[in-house]
Amino acid sequence: MVALTSLRWWASVDVAMDSIDPTPLSFTATRFRFGEGIVDELPVVLDQFTISSPLVVTDAGIREAGLLDRVIAETDAEHIYESTTEPTTDDFDDLPTENVDSVVAIGGGSVLDTAKVIALLLAHGGHPGEYIGSGKIPGEISPLVAIPTTSGTGSEVSQTAVVTHEGVKRGISDERLRPMLALVDPELTYDLPQSVTARSGFDALMHSLEGLTARDYRWVEDRPITYQGANPISRSLARRALGLVYGSLERAVFDGDDHGARRGMSLGSCLAAVAHSNSGLGAIHALASAVGGITGRPHGECLAASVEPALEYNLPIRRDAYAELADEFGVGDTAEAFIAEITRVRDDIGLPPSFSELGLDQSDADRIVEATLVQERRLKTNPRVVSEDIETVVSAHLE
Ligand SMILES: [Fe+2]
Repeated sequence: MVALTSLRWWASVDVAMDSIDPTPLSFTATRFRFGEGIVDELPVVLDQFTISSPLVVTDAGIREAGLLDRVIAETDAEHIYESTTEPTTDDFDDLPTENVDSVVAIGGGSVLDTAKVIALLLAHGGHPGEYIGSGKIPGEISPLVAIPTTSGTGSEVSQTAVVTHEGVKRGISDERLRPMLALVDPELTYDLPQSVTARSGFDALMHSLEGLTARDYRWVEDRPITYQGANPISRSLARRALGLVYGSLERAVFDGDDHGARRGMSLGSCLAAVAHSNSGLGAIHALASAVGGITGRPHGECLAASVEPALEYNLPIRRDAYAELADEFGVGDTAEAFIAEITRVRDDIGLPPSFSELGLDQSDADRIVEATLVQERRLKTNPRVVSEDIETVVSAHLE
């Protein structure tokens, strides 16, 4: 039971909206089934959707781990496509499209994103680069069933695929890119290595935190993109996701056999993505995308190095919210205590604490700021309007 005192900030935002400003809101969610062993339903699902000849998208790691055989054993799937770790828009020239009527994706974020692009191309053809941006998909994509094997990106329920285009990581975002169905099975994450659990889990932690504290939707201008600011529905899901991920992450990292923690991460990361795919994210992800582009380091590591400067930057706007989260986590009653707790978790699970750890130094400050300010997809829903003055916190975290 959540204490009433811990609802002050969220309640004040939502009640103010109910009583003063009834601005219409919208909310979209991907259909999903969750539970241990749920992937065994795949043959039935394919039947239900009259899918007879899916292209199974996966990668070598999933095949070697035995997960591919486990998931498709009872299906008639014959066409297998192994994706690369970091897909680029030029990787889609030789797709096996003969006799394929749908896509089944089994893997982590890159695999799921690759599968989304394939489902898009199966339906509409062309080059992936044509669809970069928001709202550029002209009609429904090919039927797509997404089965995540990590707990982090939430790509199985989101409307975005990230691909590298002309050397830069870019997003294709469109409500039509949401999978037709996600089968979210915690059992598939039981054997994840510790480092992957940490990196992908920290991504889920940041999705729930940024989704919860994103700019309120009433202050986000209409945009073709589907990230429209936090509203009462997305905030309630993000709060639940944050509790699940915060309560499970360290346990899952340090004891991979803790199935309760694996379940918490699996559901939490999924809920976080349902929330943030409506609310959008913010400066943590904008900074992380910037340093990711510069260093090529994994997303989870870039988030880890970005979280402290971004939270400090947002502090003037979200001081009350962070203080209440500190209270809810039981670590104090100040915003500073909350930031200290998030960085403690980051350090505990062995993720890089600073930009310097990613190989950057003071001479990179301008480059980081420049690459951050072009992250429009993220910045429009950051609680604080982001300008060049973000350089202050960036520089403070470079040596
Ligand atoms: Fe992320």
